[in-house]
Amino acid sequence: MKQISGSGWRSAKPRPFVAVFCTVLIRGLLMTAFPATALADWQALAMTDKPVATADGLMLPDGDAALTITVINDAVIRVRYTDKRKLALDRSFAVLPQKPYQGKLSVDVGSNTSTVRTPALRVVVQHQPLRLEFFDRDGRSLDQDDAEQGMARSAEVFRVAKRLRDDEQVYGFGEKTGRLNKRGMGLGGYHYTMWNSDTYGYDMSIDPLYVSVPFYLVLREGRAHGIFLDNSFRSSFDVGRDSRNRLSFGAEGGELNYYFIHGPHPKDVVARYTELTGRMPMPPRWALGFHQSRWSYYPEARVRLLADTFRSKRIPADTLWLDIDYLDGFKPFAWNREYFPDPAGMIRDLRQQGFRVVTIVDAHPKKEVGYRPYDEGIAGNHFVKNPDGSVFEGPVWPANAKKNPGNSVFPDFTRAATRAWWGGLHQELLEQGVAGIWNDMNEPAVWIPPSNTMPLNVRHENDGAPTDQREIHNVYGLLHTRATFEGLQRLRPELRPFVLTRASFAGGQRYAAVWPGDNTADWSSLRQSLPMLMGMGLSGFSFVGTDIGGFAGYPSPELFTRWLQAAVFAPFMRAHTEQATPDQEPWSFGAQHEAINRRAIELRYELLPQIYKVMEEASRTGVPALRPLFLEFPTDPQTWSRDDQFLFGADLLVAPVIVEGVSQRDIYLPAGDWFDYWTGALQRGGQTIRVPVSLSSLPIYVRAGAFVFHQPVVQHTGEMAGLPLQVDIYPASDSHGEWYEDDGESLAYQRGEQSRRTFRQQRDRHATTLTISASEGRYRPAARQLDLLLVGEHAGKRVLVNGKLLAQQAPNAPASVGPHWTQTERGLLIRLADDAKAMQISIQH
Ligand code: GLC
Repeated sequence: MKQISGSGWRSAKPRPFVAVFCTVLIRGLLMTAFPATALADWQALAMTDKPVATADGLMLPDGDAALTITVINDAVIRVRYTDKRKLALDRSFAVLPQKPYQGKLSVDVGSNTSTVRTPALRVVVQHQPLRLEFFDRDGRSLDQDDAEQGMARSAEVFRVAKRLRDDEQVYGFGEKTGRLNKRGMGLGGYHYTMWNSDTYGYDMSIDPLYVSVPFYLVLREGRAHGIFLDNSFRSSFDVGRDSRNRLSFGAEGGELNYYFIHGPHPKDVVARYTELTGRMPMPPRWALGFHQSRWSYYPEARVRLLADTFRSKRIPADTLWLDIDYLDGFKPFAWNREYFPDPAGMIRDLRQQGFRVVTIVDAHPKKEVGYRPYDEGIAGNHFVKNPDGSVFEGPVWPANAKKNPGNSVFPDFTRAATRAWWGGLHQELLEQGVAGIWNDMNEPAVWIPPSNTMPLNVRHENDGAPTDQREIHNVYGLLHTRATFEGLQRLRPELRPFVLTRASFAGGQRYAAVWPGDNTADWSSLRQSLPMLMGMGLSGFSFVGTDIGGFAGYPSPELFTRWLQAAVFAPFMRAHTEQATPDQEPWSFGAQHEAINRRAIELRYELLPQIYKVMEEASRTGVPALRPLFLEFPTDPQTWSRDDQFLFGADLLVAPVIVEGVSQRDIYLPAGDWFDYWTGALQRGGQTIRVPVSLSSLPIYVRAGAFVFHQPVVQHTGEMAGLPLQVDIYPASDSHGEWYEDDGESLAYQRGEQSRRTFRQQRDRHATTLTISASEGRYRPAARQLDLLLVGEHAGKRVLVNGKLLAQQAPNAPASVGPHWTQTERGLLIRLADDAKAMQISIQH
């Protein structure tokens, strides 16, 4: 182990292989890259004894510590440096328990280097100084420790430096401001910190925000790998900013503990990262509808008026949100009975109008004797403690109450018993009919300047491994949502929980959707929302959406409309605004905007079948619904830094208008054929097109060969049963699309109550053949029609269904009840009864 002190390198146990010129060089370089405060203590990791091959990798001893290389699976390798005595103490807030590796592993221990090999990867460990390099099966170097700096640590902190090539693009890091591609403009690079922070009204330059995901993905020549630093302490990542060809990361405590994740496709990396840290559970269908929120809707009469207005104006919506003013003195779980005398009655009535209600539940019960969460929490030893054992308290919303303001206390969510208790507190809300829970202020936000959070020395029991806020801070939100999610699961075992959170950490996607907090009502925040949501999706968080219109301040009518249009394809679509702003509902900006806003929300509901099935794919594979272009076109350099447009699923390219007052917009279409969603017109890809736009424009292009599933407009998801399933088939010589549905709210899909079908088209000069597979799974929708539209098909003369001639109906004939086909302006429409059986349809020319 080598040390740097004020007087130069000192070796605890001098090693003959350390050349003096080398140590001086390393010292100089460490001084430039690593924090000056800890400079005196920096030690480069070194090997002190012979490496040892283990059952699943390699161990390289460094005095009392060891660097272990562990094969998790063929494509994922863990690197960990820890005190040998702690090797068996292995806990993670983010990583799920993994099955022991069963594959083919070989380990060679050599004199200067050792090698660990899986069928997909090779890791070469240079012994002196310790350096790692990861290669793919073909011998291509994927990731390499920086030759000069490699890995170093002091008593408390560590840092890893990796080589960063000019042709490497870097993405991820979860909820971050800045461009999608973290190499920045002209390889300027970004420096990010992971420390969950309450950042009201943030702008593009602010970091860190509310969520920490120490994960990034590197793309080089179309091939990708990822690195996940599994450490919840404050950490930081420097992407070529300190030094253009170096990417370094480190944490201020805890273990050096990261996972190398192989691709080569970027989707493989995201899939494997979410195999490690978990995936978004399947959301209830209503949560994919439109949500209307503000701080705050109260009293009851205002909430009812809101509901009535949506329905009378025929603007679809599923969910109304109650912010902190529904509470008595801002105390979690205590209704303000003056504003809401009969919550259950109100919620029942709203439900009849097709609305669900979500209520906010912050992580800070008030310190008040006689208030149940406080009394029970004290009795059950549930609150975070000061170092002297007293209960920690601090001001948050209850300190702002008009009557009887006071401090709050904070559940110690690191205790299983506390999570179970907290989860149980939701019982009454659920009995009153509340459909979902909104967890906020869980960074945790505590109004103690200057940190605006708990002191770093407060104690968390952590189920047998007591620790302090330095380790728990970044996972406090994740554990809060875990308590909520598991509580809802226990209290309503048949229904899918819906939880929204502001703070979280890697892996938090297992428990909650995330919105990136208190953004600002300005154009740059709208533009920023695209790369931010894409970055979150790449980092495991698929169910995300920003406050439509912006939280801080107030949008112009145009900004609100543009934000709403862009959010049609945000997985989570909610309008929200801060306290005391003017009304911010879809109808609040004049008649012209009302009509355009209605149309945007209608589009969301028309496309819900597609949105639902893409979200199902995200929950099953981890590949996000909202995708940067490079995720589908990784070898096309034009996609690498594109972050003003995105894909929803694999097939819809969305280029919302996000600049004020423009009358045209440039759109990049990757290689292949694309169809204008609105007109059906063909556009050749591999080029940037310029299209005229008006206030009502939301440019969408559909990939050739796509099957787009939609339905007629509904006012809420409760109206979907029995409506026709409409499938638009965009031409290609041979392509297929997957269909998925289930009951939309229960967990029965996990027991086979689902329906999966494959739709395929094959075309030649004489005919187009559609093959629809029989439904896999037991779920059967209510009887309905299946409308198949062959977009752009005008040559059909005869249509056969399973070999039998289908009746033709003249265009514009009155609606027919029986199965038939007809020619429409957009293409050939086939209308059949939807049954679960396999069918083959032949359209002959
Ligand atoms: C926080 C939330 C915001 C909410 C407000 C009041 O600022 O981020 O969404 O409206 O608190 O609860």
